[in-house]
Amino acid sequence: MEYEKIPFLCGRTLLIILVLAMTGSKSNGAICPAACRCENDVLRTSCASASLEFVPIQLNPELHELDLSRNKIVHIHFSFPFYEELIVLNLSHNKIKTLGNSNFLSQKNLTHLDLQYNQIENLTKESFKGLKALSHLDVSNNSLEVIQETTFRDLHSLVVLRLAGNKLVHLEAGLFRSGKNLKEIYLNDNQFLEIPTEALADTVRLRYLSLSRNYIRYIEDGAMPNLPELHTLLLNYNIVTEIHSDGLSTLISLMYLDLSNNNLTVMPTESLAKLSNLTTLTLSGNFITVLQPISFRGLFNLKILKINRLMTLKQIDVRTFVDNINLEKINMDYNLGIIKLPTRLFHGNSKLTYVSVRFNGLQNLEAIHFPLDQLHELRLGGNPLQCNCSLGWLWQLIQSYKTKSINTSTNTKSEKLIPNIDLILDEHDIICEGPEDLHGKHLSSATKHQMDCSVGWLAAISVTITVIFILVVIGGVVYWAPKRRTKSSREEKLRSSLPEPNIPRKSDSYEAAQIEKYILQPSMMIHNEYRTLTPWDPYGPSVVNIYEQINDNRERPHIVYV
Ligand SMILES: *[C@@H]1O[C@H](CO)[C@@H](O)[C@H](O)[C@H]1NC(C)=O
Ligand SMILES: *[C@@H]1O[C@H](CO)[C@@H](O)[C@H](O)[C@H]1NC(C)=O
Ligand SMILES: *[C@@H]1O[C@H](CO)[C@@H](O)[C@H](O)[C@H]1NC(C)=O
Ligand SMILES: *[C@@H]1O[C@H](CO)[C@@H](O)[C@H](O)[C@H]1NC(C)=O
Ligand SMILES: *[C@@H]1O[C@H](CO)[C@@H](O)[C@H](O)[C@H]1NC(C)=O
Ligand SMILES: *[C@@H]1O[C@H](CO)[C@@H](O)[C@H](O)[C@H]1NC(C)=O
Ligand SMILES: *[C@@H]1O[C@H](CO)[C@@H](O)[C@H](O)[C@H]1NC(C)=O
Ligand SMILES: *[C@@H]1O[C@H](CO)[C@@H](O)[C@H](O)[C@H]1NC(C)=O
Repeated sequence: MEYEKIPFLCGRTLLIILVLAMTGSKSNGAICPAACRCENDVLRTSCASASLEFVPIQLNPELHELDLSRNKIVHIHFSFPFYEELIVLNLSHNKIKTLGNSNFLSQKNLTHLDLQYNQIENLTKESFKGLKALSHLDVSNNSLEVIQETTFRDLHSLVVLRLAGNKLVHLEAGLFRSGKNLKEIYLNDNQFLEIPTEALADTVRLRYLSLSRNYIRYIEDGAMPNLPELHTLLLNYNIVTEIHSDGLSTLISLMYLDLSNNNLTVMPTESLAKLSNLTTLTLSGNFITVLQPISFRGLFNLKILKINRLMTLKQIDVRTFVDNINLEKINMDYNLGIIKLPTRLFHGNSKLTYVSVRFNGLQNLEAIHFPLDQLHELRLGGNPLQCNCSLGWLWQLIQSYKTKSINTSTNTKSEKLIPNIDLILDEHDIICEGPEDLHGKHLSSATKHQMDCSVGWLAAISVTITVIFILVVIGGVVYWAPKRRTKSSREEKLRSSLPEPNIPRKSDSYEAAQIEKYILQPSMMIHNEYRTLTPWDPYGPSVVNIYEQINDNRERPHIVYV
């Protein structure tokens, strides 16, 4: 075997020398082949896309950077002893099938080794022997099936390891025994059936882990080892159907979790509840059918939530997001089964600035659905809206938005009338499904008359008479039966703090009335309620009660909303 290799090697070396001598140019005592670019002042040589079949061995032996990417190199045996001072070596996009034994033994200072897009099938304990300074290793897009347990034993300095796009099913326990400095591991696009718990147990400083596009179905009890610094975990595009309540609970620092495009059918509330540092959660493209009260329990730091493309989602509880007091952005696009939003869904989310509910099944929208006075962007396009006068508030908002975008000078009057004149709307996509005269038209093209909800004078009189009648009846009851007045004092206090009921009436300034009615009024009500209610204390004893009730599934907890 070895004897066969020697003449082969000699022939190859001779050939290279011959080729170099014929085509190369000499500088600083080293030969630079014509297809390469040699920058001897910075000790860098690039032979990228040079159709090389072998590693050139006559280059400057003091090279720090050697780029051999996009060639046709198959073997690297005995190629690198000449370049002891290499710091960066790029062998990506070649045809290497095996790294052989101890071929990087002299590269004591190598920090970056790029081997992506080759055909490597097997890594052994000799593959990276000697690479004590290596911090970045990329073996993505190869044909790895097996990595021997001792493969990375010398790589004490390894920080970033890329193994994406291989055929890995399993990682040996102890594979990362020298991985105390590992911060990022890419295992996406492999064939893992479960999280490689035992191997990862040694990567105590890990901050980033990608397991996207594998075949992970269950995240079992203790599936994630104790990784106290992990801040990003990507599990998107697996087939996760179940997450044990302690499957992820060790990840106390986790800030970014992607569980999109899996097969979850119920919201994994319990499993996520301990991730109190989570700021971004993506659950898009699952098969969740219901968002229960406090679905995102304990996620007090959640800022960005993506729950779009939940094709089977039918129902959202009004208290779904109450724990997420720091929520800033929410994306709920393409939840086709949602035909109605609960009123004041975002009641407790006082930091919310971005709401997107594009392409849901919503026919009607109410101003009170959205915290209009604090939003910066509201995206509503693609819903089958019934553009009757109930959408007057939105029509008005679009009109003032249009005026504002045409007119660059500030209009102080409308600023006073509309709480948030800077609201960005996707008004070009807000198109009416009905009524017939507006079918297929932009809501903004509707006339003031079509959006007018005010009742005729006959109706107004009858409403007034009814109200007076009711008042008389109530007055009589109160006067004649004072002892019956034993309703809870809390309810009464709240009622008295609410503003007067808003009776529709024709006014001289139509705009002012409409805007007050639809925008200022709800937001005032919200503020009033805030003032009268005790502040939401996530750790207070009442919360424990709520959770118990929910777990028991007995009756709806009875808090916060009046
Ligand atoms: C590695 O780098 C150090 C300092 O940067 C240098 O002193 C040493 O000679 C280098 N070793 C080799 C084998 O080039
Ligand atoms: C190696 O070369 C490839 C292709 O030219 C490039 O994409 C990659 O970034 C390079 N790797 C390093 C570590 O520079
Ligand atoms: C990997 O390489 C080692 C050593 O060359 C060999 O013993 C082992 O059989 C190989 N494994 C596979 C799966 O090819
Ligand atoms: C290379 O791997 C990436 C994942 O890192 C994957 O998305 C891509 O499809 C792979 N490319 C090929 C050609 O296999
Ligand atoms: C959670 O995040 C906060 C602020 O970013 C940080 O101070 C705290 O240490 C984090 N908690 C953990 C357990 O990492
Ligand atoms: C996951 O969901 C997809 C899409 O509905 C389905 O085709 C697939 O069979 C499911 N896989 C499992 C394991 O449930
Ligand atoms: C407008 O249409 C919606 C949806 O069909 C309906 O719920 C609402 O009652 C209508 N409003 C009026 C004033 O007719
Ligand atoms: C822009 O606003 C100013 C007053 O702020 C007004 O005088 C002017 O007519 C407006 N222009 C347009 C095009 O609406």
